[in-house]
Amino acid sequence: MKKTIAVLPGDGIGPEVTDAAVKVLQSIAMRYGHTFHLKHALIGGSAVDAHNNPLPDETIAACTASDAILLGAVGGSKWDQNPGHLRPEKGLLNIRKHFDLFANIRPVKAIPALLGSSPLKEEVAKEVDMVIVRELTSGLYFGEPKRRTEKAGIDTLVYTREEIERIVDQAFEIARTRRGKVTSVDKANVLETSKLWREVVEERKAAYPDVEVEHMLVDSAAMKLITDPRQFDVVVTENMFGDILSDEASVITGSLGMLPSASVRSDGFGLYEPVHGSAPDIAGQNKANPSAAILSAAMMLRHSFGMHTEAAAIEEAVMSVLEDGYCTGDLSVEGKHVVSTDRFVTKVIEELERE
Ligand code: NAI
Ligand code: MG
Repeated sequence: MKKTIAVLPGDGIGPEVTDAAVKVLQSIAMRYGHTFHLKHALIGGSAVDAHNNPLPDETIAACTASDAILLGAVGGSKWDQNPGHLRPEKGLLNIRKHFDLFANIRPVKAIPALLGSSPLKEEVAKEVDMVIVRELTSGLYFGEPKRRTEKAGIDTLVYTREEIERIVDQAFEIARTRRGKVTSVDKANVLETSKLWREVVEERKAAYPDVEVEHMLVDSAAMKLITDPRQFDVVVTENMFGDILSDEASVITGSLGMLPSASVRSDGFGLYEPVHGSAPDIAGQNKANPSAAILSAAMMLRHSFGMHTEAAAIEEAVMSVLEDGYCTGDLSVEGKHVVSTDRFVTKVIEELERE
């Protein structure tokens, strides 16, 4: 297959981890006979420095001409005092909005070799394997009116039926490729948007008779995520609940450096990026854990290109390297060899070439 990928490294460790993911993609291309044409472009702080715009037109053009987007991370203290429109994270918000990437998908899977670094007890964290599907382009963060006066702050929570239908359908589709269970999280005992949400889930489930559905209130879901996370397969929820629950779930695996994510729309186009930020404290030191970026590239192959075998090969290669006892410095598990970013990537590629 021939595919064009927009590569947006961003700031801090972003370039280091995207380079790593690109090397892995090149190895896959060689091995499976694909051609990946890469278009590098700027986003975030580096784009502000070069073009006074966190999402320059050239970057949008490169992404529009591509089949998927691979992104590193944005941000750093250098730009913290910038006005809103010149802040690095504005680049991220704008790119999601521009391409209507309404579904944020975050898998959370316990990694046997790393259970020791999870803050949860091993018997709670082991065998966790879930995906959180968060609505990303509507809800409280975008609703109008949004205002601040001397005496009050106002945010507005609005969801249309259509916005709920498309995110719920994404969750059902993903559940079909997994254990076939969807947990829809809302606050239907209080919120009108949640009552509509629940109604839509009930309507849509008729189209997916093979998927089991349960409804859960968000406060209860927050509790169950840390007391009994194994019960979840696919969790689908609105923007703000998803923001909070996905961060909560991210600690289960023990390292931010291991978590990939995707932001997609219904036609398969998507943006793939690690969950972590630009980690300025370790940038440029060849210390960053490239796993989250590499696993994001695997998600891209699976979700946007339908390359299931290739995606699984990448995931298995990363897990084998960890099982062989190699890791980067963020994973403080006893008895492991701490290696540099470059060395870790070399190990993953050796593993891919062996498979
Ligand atoms: P962060 O995720 O960048 O770092 C938190 C801690 O985890 C740091 O100690 C860092 O060294 C470590 N860490 C993160 N990723 C790692 C990796 N791959 N390997 C090894 N260690 C890793 O979050 P923080 O410190 O809150 O934010 C730093 C900057 O990143 C800020 O400017 C923030 O706005 C931005 N940010 C960007 C995001 C994005 O681009 N999607 C998401 C979150 C934060
Ligand atoms: Mg968050």
